Amino acid sequence: MTRHDSDRVFIFDTTLRDGEQSPGATMSHAEKLEIAELLDEMGVDTIEAGFPIASEGDFSAVSEIAKRTKNATVCGLARANFADIDRCWEAVKHAKSPRIHTFIGTSPLHRDIPRLTMDELANRVHDTVSHAHNLCDNVQWSPMDATRTEWEYLCRVVRIAIEAGATTINIPDTVGYTAPVESADLIRRLIKTVPGADEVVFATHCHNDLGMATANALAAVAGGARQIECTINGLGERAGNTALEEVVMAMKVRGDIIPYHTGVDTTKIMNISRRVAAVSGFSVQFNKAIVGKNAFAHESGIHQDGVLKNAETFEIMRPEDIGLAATSIVMGKHSGRAALRSKLEELGYSLAGNQLNDVFVRFKALADRKKEVFDDDLVALMRDSAATDESDRLQIKFLRVICGTEAPQSADLTMSVDGVDRQVTATGDGPVDAVFRAVRKIFPHEIDLQLYQVHAVTQGSDAQATVSVRIEEDGRIATGEAADTDTVVASAKAYVTALNRLLVRREKTAPDADRKSIRQTDSAV
Ligand code: KIV
Ligand code: ZN
Repeated sequence: MTRHDSDRVFIFDTTLRDGEQSPGATMSHAEKLEIAELLDEMGVDTIEAGFPIASEGDFSAVSEIAKRTKNATVCGLARANFADIDRCWEAVKHAKSPRIHTFIGTSPLHRDIPRLTMDELANRVHDTVSHAHNLCDNVQWSPMDATRTEWEYLCRVVRIAIEAGATTINIPDTVGYTAPVESADLIRRLIKTVPGADEVVFATHCHNDLGMATANALAAVAGGARQIECTINGLGERAGNTALEEVVMAMKVRGDIIPYHTGVDTTKIMNISRRVAAVSGFSVQFNKAIVGKNAFAHESGIHQDGVLKNAETFEIMRPEDIGLAATSIVMGKHSGRAALRSKLEELGYSLAGNQLNDVFVRFKALADRKKEVFDDDLVALMRDSAATDESDRLQIKFLRVICGTEAPQSADLTMSVDGVDRQVTATGDGPVDAVFRAVRKIFPHEIDLQLYQVHAVTQGSDAQATVSVRIEEDGRIATGEAADTDTVVASAKAYVTALNRLLVRREKTAPDADRKSIRQTDSAV
């Protein structure tokens, strides 16, 4: 039996690299460490922790994750040059099990970018993989855009990479172009054709541009791949990557026809899905497979009746299998700290003393306004507290909005900017417009509001609203999310959260001269 016949599939999570690369999904250092810890606890085999040469922040996150991770292999990404590979090794070398992942675009379109001939590129593969192998025993190599690379050439470069010491060969469908039959066939033929293929693990890395990432990844496994690259909630460039929860649950639920297993503890799925949604600012669509809010909800009478009599009538997996606990404690204004702590633990949040105090105060304020506080309200509350930070430059201090049937509506806003309180009144076409204008009056800025979305967290007229905002400035994207029983207050908080994140991003990316001028513009207000 070769490794391509084994029934164990390795899970390679790239939420912190490919996922974090999606526009607007940037995570803070602390958030990356938290997600890495959750991934390790849930039993993924490899954590791709970042792209160490990309920035100081990426480097320190990857090296810290390398030092802390207890079980998983920790991997960093590197382009096909020695400087990237050396930097990557510096970051991952402290891991119990380090890996260097190096890649180069091999399709005609991608070869054109560095203007390399086929021979030059093949030599580059040999030199860079050999260099990585001299530093680390565990080397993964990827021919980017493999699915649009000429067959003969793909075989040639894969062979060179294996000869140079790669131990995992990843075949990326970088633009989400392949289809299941082709995906299986490509891996099968590579294993059959390339000398030395039996000595390495083949991996599949699928993007979801045509909605086929999960199907393509599972097909690749049928073709002999034994590592799936994936992300929590399918986060990733453009339409995202293969969703971890989908491939893992597909193998678990349909073991009869997808006869493979992973080391993932599926009961941890829901918690990590919520945390990734919170820290990335990318909400999970309601009808998303496995982790969507509606994935286990039954609305119609016939469905409800069926599920009550026998859950299997309309459920192919048990909510508990993904860590969705049947709710036992109902929270309300008489609930104490212990009940809150235990409920939050059930939902996957463990809080230290001070954090619990802070959340408890906010929970009480919410319970005063809402008769019953449901699980989803608490998740929204936690997402809100994850979004606010004392070090934020902009902080809302007071907001009052006057609405009527006659336009315009007006907003009185007090907001502190770098610790100095400022107060304005602004009018607008509707209450939300008035609030956003007030923010702009206090802190003038030119941004493009790309998305403004409101969702009711639960049912009833006292339901909280979750507002999501996405803004863009010179190609920098930032998202903000906030919840409140008052939609206008939630809108203001979400908008200011996004602005604070954009300011951090400006600071990170602006050259020194620009940085000064941003400060000057800000303080000229
Ligand atoms: O999509 C892709 O090709 C990648 C590579 C860097 C593996 O993310
Ligand atoms: Zn990718």
